[in-house]
Amino acid sequence: MTEAEAQTQGFSERDVVHAAAGRELRKRYTAADLAVFTCDEARRFVPRGDGDPQNSVVLAWELLYRLEPELYDRLASVERLHPDVVRWLPCDLDRIAEVGAGTGRLTMELVARGQHVVAVEPALPLRRILRRKLAAAEHGDRVRVVRGFFDQLPLPDDFADLVVACSAFTPSSGHGGDAGLAEMERACRPGGCVAIIWPNHLDWLTARGYRYVSFPGPMFVEFGSYREAVELAEIFYPTAVGEVRRGGERRVPFEVLGINPPRDVAFKVLAG
Ligand SMILES: C[S@@+](CC[C@H](N)C(=O)[O-])C[C@H]1O[C@@H](n2cnc3c(N)ncnc32)[C@H](O)[C@@H]1O
Repeated sequence: MTEAEAQTQGFSERDVVHAAAGRELRKRYTAADLAVFTCDEARRFVPRGDGDPQNSVVLAWELLYRLEPELYDRLASVERLHPDVVRWLPCDLDRIAEVGAGTGRLTMELVARGQHVVAVEPALPLRRILRRKLAAAEHGDRVRVVRGFFDQLPLPDDFADLVVACSAFTPSSGHGGDAGLAEMERACRPGGCVAIIWPNHLDWLTARGYRYVSFPGPMFVEFGSYREAVELAEIFYPTAVGEVRRGGERRVPFEVLGINPPRDVAFKVLAG
């Protein structure tokens, strides 16, 4: 999706901003890179077989996860969640399932809220980083990292007390959609909670019975250094590079970068 497509096709404000921000990201990859996808991935991400990451920021992100996973991890590590988002999630749970776990921005927090966590993640390079982090934190025995997709979760019915996705679910069929939401609800036990953290299409979710909570307060992207702020802004927030340079700080408000902060949750408590 390009910026113009996002603007004309009724995508959310965040999509438009991401499409603008994605200009530099799109330049990093070509159609030849799509060969990195497995068959299951290609079926979801390039269903007609003719995708081009130079024109699609969504595809460029998927290639980033597979071709430059450490770069993606650096970004996710500095875009931290509002602490109240994690505190708001139910705790003392038996089983938690997270879908689209990535390199574990949320997963590492879930360990404190449930006995057993299953982290579902399609991209092998991200699963590797997540496993490495879990082992380093000695959580390897509490979290099972598995391959899977929103629309085909490798989980039994009524499996978890909490089924959650963070910055991963969208209404598009390749990244969730109605089939993906139905799968998350299928894997959640009656009385359990399905939560979409940092939702990008709230109206779509509220039309499906989801409620919403958002936590206030200033939020910053916490780069490791001013140098890293400039380096990552050049790739991920190109429209904000000038302001990042002028600020001269390693902490940059989300607003300056032009993205809404990860401070909100759409959720549904399933009938008991
Ligand atoms: C922006 S990343 C977020 C990762 C992590 N949840 C976090 O907050 O850091 C989006 C994640 O969704 C995953 N993803 C993309 N399509 C998916 C699908 N169809 N089913 C499950 N996960 C998917 C990606 O591989 C990636 O890990």
